Amino acid sequence: MKRISIASPVFNGNEKKYLNECIDTGWVSANGRFVKEFEEKFAEYCGCKYAVSCSNGTVSLHLILLAMGIGSGDEVIMPTLTYIATANTVRYCGATPVFVDSEEDTFNIDPKKIEEKITSRTKAIMPVHLYGLPANMEAIMELSKKYNIPIIEDAAEAHGAEFKGERVGSFGLAASFSFFGNKVITSGEGGMVVTNDEELYKKMKLLKGQAVSLDKKYWHIAVGYNYRMTNMQAAVGLGQLENINWHIAERERIAKLYRKYLKGTEAYMKMQYAPNDYKQTYWMNNIMLQDIVAKGRDQVMEEMEACNIEMRPVFYPMHIMPPYLDNTISCPIAEKLGARGISLPSHAMLTEEEVAYICDCLKKIVMEG
Ligand SMILES: Cc1ncc(COP(=O)(O)O)c(C=O)c1O
Repeated sequence: MKRISIASPVFNGNEKKYLNECIDTGWVSANGRFVKEFEEKFAEYCGCKYAVSCSNGTVSLHLILLAMGIGSGDEVIMPTLTYIATANTVRYCGATPVFVDSEEDTFNIDPKKIEEKITSRTKAIMPVHLYGLPANMEAIMELSKKYNIPIIEDAAEAHGAEFKGERVGSFGLAASFSFFGNKVITSGEGGMVVTNDEELYKKMKLLKGQAVSLDKKYWHIAVGYNYRMTNMQAAVGLGQLENINWHIAERERIAKLYRKYLKGTEAYMKMQYAPNDYKQTYWMNNIMLQDIVAKGRDQVMEEMEACNIEMRPVFYPMHIMPPYLDNTISCPIAEKLGARGISLPSHAMLTEEEVAYICDCLKKIVMEG
C-alpha cells in the first residue's frame, strides 16, 4: 500500500485556468477580478452580506479583533482545545484568552462552562467549530444575548458546516475561515472574514490594506497591516469554491466509511460525535482512545506510521503549552482529548480500500495490544 497522507488537496475545477489568467494578465497581487469574486461568492455561500479576504486564517481572526477595538485589559473566551492561532490572535492585541474545557463527545467548547468565565472584561466569546463540527451555537447565542457579548466564530476548519440547518459563519458578529492547503477548500494560504456588520466590514477593509485613504493615494489614516490575499490565491480559492459541494460530499463519504469499518470498536476508540442537526464537514475524522487501551497515543501513531499511514495528534490544550501555561486551570476533558485523541487521514479521493486498510491497521494496533 502506498503511503497514505493525512491531507492532500484536490484541484479538479477551474483552479489552473484561473491561475493562468492571473499570470497571462499580470494581475498577480491583491488587485484583480478573482479577489472580488471570491469574496462575493464566499459571503453568499455563508449567508452573509460581506466578506474580507486575507492572507491566512490567523490574520483574518486578528483583523476581526482589531476592528472590534479589542486590546489591553480585555478578555476573550475560547476553548482551550483549539489550534494555537485562536489564542495567539487575542495575544497580538494585548488582550487575554480565557480558556474553557471541552465536551468529551463533540470535542467542542462546553457551553455549560462558559458562564462562570464571563467577567466585566469579557469582550467576545470565540467558539471554534473544531474539525468541521459546529459548536453548540444555540447555547452560545443565548449567552451572547444574556450578557450582550459579541460572538466571533473561528470557522477555520468548518467550511459548509451547519448547526440546525444554518451554515456556520452567519451566527455571530463575524466569522473567520482558513484556506490552508489541508482545509476543506484551499487557496494555498488564505483566509476570509464574513460578517453582516457594515461598520466592522469597512474597518477590516481599511486595516488589511495599510489603512490607506480611499480618496487620497499614499495617505494613511491609521496604523494598518498588509493582510491582503493575492489574486492568485483567490483564483485557486474561487475554483475550489465552485466545487465545494463535491469536496464536502467526498469528506462525508470518507466519514461514512470510517464509521462502517470501525463499527463495534467503540469500547477501544470513540469517534468525535456529531449530534442530530449538526452537519459536520469532516475536515478531520478523529478518534479518542479509551482507557481500556494500554498503549499510549504516540505509540499508536508510530505503529500506524510503520504501516505507511500518516496520523496526527488532536490539538494540545492551550493551557498546557509554554505560551499559555497555566497550572491553575482545570480542563480535564480537553487534557484527555489532547493526550488520547488522533486525527485520521480525511482528504477527498481516499479510496474505500485505503480507508479499510487504515481501519484494519488501527484495530490490530489498538485492540490486539
Ligand atoms: C481553529 C483554527 N483557527 C485558526 C487557524 C489559522 O488558519 P491559518 O493556518 O490559515 O492561519 C487554523 C488553521 O488551521 C485553525 O485550525
